[in-house]
Amino acid sequence: MSTLLAHLSDPHVLDLRGVPLHRMLLNKRLTGWLNLRLKRGHKHRPAVVEAMMADLRALAPDHVAITGDLTNLALEPEFEAARAMIERLGLDPEQVSVIPGNHDLYTDGARRAGRFASFFHKYITSDLDLAVDLPGGRFPFVRLRDDLALIGLSSAVPRLPLVASGRLGDAQRAALRAALAHPEVRSRVPVVLSHHPVVDPRGRFAPALRGLEDLAAFRASLDHGRDVLALHGHWHRRGHEKLAGSNGATIHRLGATSASLVHHDHEKMASYNLYEIDRASGLVRAHARVWNALRERFEDAELPDGAGQTG
Ligand SMILES: [Fe+2]
Ligand SMILES: [Fe+2]
Repeated sequence: MSTLLAHLSDPHVLDLRGVPLHRMLLNKRLTGWLNLRLKRGHKHRPAVVEAMMADLRALAPDHVAITGDLTNLALEPEFEAARAMIERLGLDPEQVSVIPGNHDLYTDGARRAGRFASFFHKYITSDLDLAVDLPGGRFPFVRLRDDLALIGLSSAVPRLPLVASGRLGDAQRAALRAALAHPEVRSRVPVVLSHHPVVDPRGRFAPALRGLEDLAAFRASLDHGRDVLALHGHWHRRGHEKLAGSNGATIHRLGATSASLVHHDHEKMASYNLYEIDRASGLVRAHARVWNALRERFEDAELPDGAGQTG
């Protein structure tokens, strides 16, 4: 029997209830809000997220992983709405793992950090005691579930307006290496969750603006001589890239789209990924459930080859 893991990301729940207009106008929030809302050709739609929760409920996976950017502006009503969304999965909190994205720590780092952990504490519990204090809470968590060892990282750090880069930091990467070496993890398939991916976006300035500061060190930590699944969000693009590791091992980079984004590019259309994972054989199958906007339902699709994706 294999374990079925569902992976969704970046629902970007927007809820401005109770936010005074001056708070919108006088700081970074306006820039971020305009940036996200006024791009042409794609729209975040809450109804699609609701349809996704219903699709997932019917499918009843063993575990659901959510790789960050649950909110837009890290506002309390957004965290409330995001938590209600998770609860509509109808799963036990032990079956849902959540990590923060850059939007969940938007401005006012310390305060937002406490907010993420307080709203999602049930979904970030750990079976191993390896976590360090970070802006997003205490990470990494390690959750041992059947064939899986889920290792949740926080790459979210408060940044200047329009900068969406992330950082794991020395202490968290050391804890990641310790987790990957732990016997309870080694006897399972390691599934590492990070909002920022293990490869850089293309473009001259993109890595500095949207990438991971300590990317090379992160990849070196993942490269531990055994296959590893590295799930991420942030790019809002679906894809499966097989990166060569040492000893013939593979680092499977697995990107999920934004759960709410209706987009003309099929690789960016709202979807979630499904992974069948087996302790002995690793990743047995990866595919996606993609929103069909005309039929208003989710349909099976292959996961595109992510090699050469531009982020
Ligand atoms: Fe995002
Ligand atoms: Fe992001």
